[in-house]
Amino acid sequence: MELGELLYKGKAKSIYKSEKDDELISCFRDDMTAFNGEKKDCFSGKGAYNASVSAFFFNYLEKNGVKTHFVKMLDERTMVVKKLQMIPLEVIARNVAAGSIVKKLPFKEGQILNPPVIITDYKDDERGDPSVNDDLILALGLLTSSELKEVKETTLRINKLLYDFFDELGMVLVDFKIEFGRYKNGIILGDEISMDSMRLWDRETKESFDKDVYRYNKGNVMSAYGKVVEKIEGWKKEHLK
Ligand SMILES: Nc1ncnc2c1ncn2[C@@H]1O[C@H](COP(=O)(O)OP(=O)(O)OP(=O)(O)O)[C@@H](O)[C@H]1O
Ligand SMILES: [Mg+2]
Repeated sequence: MELGELLYKGKAKSIYKSEKDDELISCFRDDMTAFNGEKKDCFSGKGAYNASVSAFFFNYLEKNGVKTHFVKMLDERTMVVKKLQMIPLEVIARNVAAGSIVKKLPFKEGQILNPPVIITDYKDDERGDPSVNDDLILALGLLTSSELKEVKETTLRINKLLYDFFDELGMVLVDFKIEFGRYKNGIILGDEISMDSMRLWDRETKESFDKDVYRYNKGNVMSAYGKVVEKIEGWKKEHLK
């Protein structure tokens, strides 16, 4: 497969030019990083796992009325996406307290957050992705107030769809991070939805099936990611006959 010019090499994906001006090629690499790049490794097949899960969820969300950048897969780790003007925000939805929220605030690990909590971080590695509230998002000119309302509502909708989906598989969607971008006159979901960008626990054992396995050396990250892929494949066989 011929890839166009490399436009951006992030920590986990490489973005290439496409033949079409309004599209890009997103290639999910096997690189794995944590703690803002301090921990780094490479796991053969990880990119393909994350690409397949992302593609599945982009399709699933589209079917449920959420617009995404997904166009099609080119191979198991590479997808064509609509070219967005990214909004430098990490929009995080949390259903259960875990990770940084437990370090920063008096929540107990595993505490249910109902209603879910949305947190917005300004995407800037050098500044350590600082949290920004609504006023700061408006003051920085990242979104208008109606766009901000839309981004939050869409995030809650995505959260409900993904939470219910994983619930059916016996897993708890603890939290996840998404990114949005401008496309034509609207704002749509971009980037990825994968085990790198979410926390996923077994409902009974609370075992992790996400990047925490890597972050905190909880076991074999590829077998954890593989389990999620396997469960989704099982769901597809049942539902997409
Ligand atoms: N449809 C799109 N159009 C344009 N840019 C996109 C699109 N989808 C994702 N991106 C951007 O492409 C890049 C993907 O790279 P990657 O996720 O590896 O790195 P990163 O976001 O820089 O770092 P990290 O996510 O590891 O903090 C990100 O900058 C992301 O915002
Ligand atoms: Mg990223």
